[in-house]
Amino acid sequence: MPGDKPGNSHGRTAPERLLENRKTVSGKVIAPEGFEDRNVIFDTVPMKITEALLAEHAVFHNLFDYAERTVPRLKTVAEVRSLAHLVEALLLAHSHTEEQLLVEPLEHCLEQIGHRQTFHQEHQEIDDHLKRAQTVRSLKQARHHLLAAVVSSRKHFDKEERIVFPLAEQHLKSRTLTELCSTWTEHRNRAIGQDEA
Ligand SMILES: [Fe+2]
Ligand SMILES: [Fe+2]
Repeated sequence: MPGDKPGNSHGRTAPERLLENRKTVSGKVIAPEGFEDRNVIFDTVPMKITEALLAEHAVFHNLFDYAERTVPRLKTVAEVRSLAHLVEALLLAHSHTEEQLLVEPLEHCLEQIGHRQTFHQEHQEIDDHLKRAQTVRSLKQARHHLLAAVVSSRKHFDKEERIVFPLAEQHLKSRTLTELCSTWTEHRNRAIGQDEA
């Protein structure tokens, strides 16, 4: 492949390994920083932050489908807690990045259309259900709270896709949206690097 550097897999740090893995998936570069690193010009347009977050939403919808299929069949509170914990951890990473990179720069717009407070309340509601799913003692209650968190998350994601993402496309320049996507990738790489350190 053009721009490929010789080397082997030994002695590389976790972020370097991650970058290398991304370069070789289906033979394509799938992270924005990979384009610069390889000094290769592609005809495709670099990814925008809205597209990256939308792709994450799609992964979450698969996880929510799984939860809705599985939770009614779980036999113990511990199993429900474990799934709730997983959903909570994944949502936390997603929401934190989304809030910092996209919602905060649009705060004044959201305020104007009266949605700023609603978004905060919805985050709170989802968090509360997930916390309760991990603390209540009854299996029925734990199931109820986990499934309620899933329903609230789906509605919240839908609202972000209908309101926040189009607002970002409207108010932020294309270049800003792609730069934010590079920042999003850096955040992810750093988080993974720290986890593996
Ligand atoms: Fe959100
Ligand atoms: Fe989101």
